[in-house]
Amino acid sequence: AVSFDPSEWTLRWRDPMKLRIGKAVGFVPTMGALHAGHLNLVAAAAEQTESVVVSIFVNPAQFAPHEDLDQYPRTLGDDVRKLSELGRPMAVFAPPVSEMYPRGISTNIAEQRGTFVEVRGMSEMLEGGTRPHFFRGVATVVAKLFHITMPDIAFFGQKDIQQCCVLRAMVQDLHFPLKIKVVPTVRDPHTGLALSSRNVYLTNEQRARAPAFYRGLCRARDLFASGAVARDEPLAAVRDEAAKEQLDIEYVCLSSPDDLGEVQEVGSSGAILSGAWRMGATRLIDNILLGFE
Ligand code: PAJ
Repeated sequence: AVSFDPSEWTLRWRDPMKLRIGKAVGFVPTMGALHAGHLNLVAAAAEQTESVVVSIFVNPAQFAPHEDLDQYPRTLGDDVRKLSELGRPMAVFAPPVSEMYPRGISTNIAEQRGTFVEVRGMSEMLEGGTRPHFFRGVATVVAKLFHITMPDIAFFGQKDIQQCCVLRAMVQDLHFPLKIKVVPTVRDPHTGLALSSRNVYLTNEQRARAPAFYRGLCRARDLFASGAVARDEPLAAVRDEAAKEQLDIEYVCLSSPDDLGEVQEVGSSGAILSGAWRMGATRLIDNILLGFE
């Protein structure tokens, strides 16, 4: 992995790109604290494209004032080492906040100045219910990162399925000349808990209880496989498993992959079964796709 001085980034990265006619650039945006889920995205990018760039940037605009911006794990040295260990040449873009937000940035939306990207319609649902400005922050920083890195394919994890849907809509609406690929969720091989940088906040006791949500998703998948397409049964299965470990569920929802609207049953284009729950101060999310091939 190569780290560039951010001020030289645009020059150093773009100039060689003039020479890369016919070679695809793959891009993996992250907030660092890299785990096997992130590395799997980088591996997918390395398989499908010739030049890979990984960004590491904890984006203030996607945190609310009461959220964990200050506590969010920052482990740049370890991250770069993990990326080098993949043994693939790649570029790492880890800019300071001032580079990404030349007019400054506050988690308080009333104090923000400058240009922001809003994907209306999809951003208010599901995660948007408790994090109303979250996807505005995500879409804004990802639009900036797309302009800087100019990828042909950008890779995102299914773990954050709504993020994938919102960013696909942004790419379509703003005519970004690139494709978004969604890579399956990487889970703890023993418990099925989806890997997340925020899992470091969990106590051992919480870590032991957290996988109940995924067990519920798996039960829902089994029910669907045996013919239950209406929403009530899969939703009840998730709530039921979660209740066994007293998980504090925020929402569980069956939604359309097209517009994230709630659906009554798994239709011909499939459906997303997703939810969020709280464990102490930590908020976790997970999902599965039903009826996708
Ligand atoms: P972050 O949470 O660091 O995640 C970076 C990418 O890794 C996202 O596409 C996310 O979906 C993916 N990812 C995280 N955990 C995963 C897992 N267990 N399996 C598969 N993929 C996983 O998502 C963000 O950062 C930010 O919102 C970002 C897009 C970088 C914008 O700031």
